[in-house]
Amino acid sequence: MDKLQIQGGVALEGEVRISGAKNAALPILAGTLLADGPVTVSNVPHLQDVTTMIELLGRMGVDVTIGERMHVEVDPTALREPYAPYELVKTMRASILVLGPLVARCGRADVSLPGGCAIGARPVNIHVAGLQAMGADIHIEGGYIRARASRLKGARLVLETVTVTGTENLMMAAALAAGETIIENAAREPEVVDLANFINSMGGKIRGAGTDTLVIEGVERLGGTHHDVLPDRIESGTYLVAGAITGGRVRIKNTRPDHLDAVLAKLRDAGATIAVGDNWVELDMRGRRPQSVDIRTAPYPAFPTDMQAQFAALDTVAEGVGTIVETIFENRFMHMLEMRRLGAEIRLEGTTAIIRGVPKLTAAPVMATDLRASASLVLAGLVADGRTDIERIYHIDRGYETIEEKLAQLGARIRRVPG
Ligand code: EPU
Repeated sequence: MDKLQIQGGVALEGEVRISGAKNAALPILAGTLLADGPVTVSNVPHLQDVTTMIELLGRMGVDVTIGERMHVEVDPTALREPYAPYELVKTMRASILVLGPLVARCGRADVSLPGGCAIGARPVNIHVAGLQAMGADIHIEGGYIRARASRLKGARLVLETVTVTGTENLMMAAALAAGETIIENAAREPEVVDLANFINSMGGKIRGAGTDTLVIEGVERLGGTHHDVLPDRIESGTYLVAGAITGGRVRIKNTRPDHLDAVLAKLRDAGATIAVGDNWVELDMRGRRPQSVDIRTAPYPAFPTDMQAQFAALDTVAEGVGTIVETIFENRFMHMLEMRRLGAEIRLEGTTAIIRGVPKLTAAPVMATDLRASASLVLAGLVADGRTDIERIYHIDRGYETIEEKLAQLGARIRRVPG
């Protein structure tokens, strides 16, 4: 298994291009199943999770062609087998995103129930309950969600918890249902909005995306389209923290600054000077050590759980004490234990971490446990004294396109070593 080796101590400087958003590309690729004609999707990030989703579509008989620079063409007309096998779902929970489209388009779906997860229980009860309320007959058998329906019927759905993929699954199902569906307490994440725009470009009728109430008027059919995936706000935030933690100056381009408000506010609190253009952000730390920041994760537009680990890394070397409260997932602190191995001073109390910044971390071998946890270890490695080896980096390849190349472009001494 590949490892990343990082020699810490370089203040990052330069420009990096942000890729398309993983968490928008995945639902959009699943959403192509709704169409009755070919769909092309561009700005798709070249990531392991995207490859898994494409493989999943392929297994169903869908024709997928990957062109230059990940311009993906999907022809769902040959869809034969509305089935998502355990062997794929267990490697990527986001496979659950095919459930809504399959039930809506084929009237049946057999989708493996995702099992345990490294960051929390992550049940899918809200996805299932919503489809049942729309008339699907669903039972769990042999580890599979077996759903059957004639045409789904519009319904008023009040989601018990704000769920991103739950909102997306139900929105996709409702797009082809008979009549109107109202989803209350919907997720407002930009990725939900991108999916709604995509569906509307196929002829869908979704209003209210970006607010907590979605109104979806079901249509008889959705046709082919072209869609450009929005930039990844989590990758954006991660490179900005890389600039901040190293005392450097980093400009990210091809991004959406308006999706980064909560993250930019915390970076300013940490002492960064931030300049923003129409599709770029520049962070300048002027060689200074960051100040500790307090973080509380919550659904968009509040501070994203997917940036929690990266700010934890920032706090480990900041001046002062920072408190991090994780409210979305109950077990998303594994990186804290690894960062302690680098000399970080972290006290854990349930879902709160209290981090006292130290002047220096010291390199050590560490292990990535999930995607964002691995990003935080890379960030810590950038400032640790000596060489940090990060194992199990397949986690990072699920969500960050060529991270070692992008960081090296900013001056980091990082390399991938085949294991
Ligand atoms: N929840 C339920 N029941 C459900 C669905 C969710 O109780 O049926 C709970 C979850 O257990 C969690 C909370 O609701 O406590 C919110 O989870 P959500 O459903 O929003 O998470 P998700 O849709 O499974 C997406 C992203 C995650 C990101 C979260 C939160 C995708 C493909 N994944 O997951 O991304 O952390 O939203 O913003 O969009 C990542 O990219 O590293 C990642 C984990």
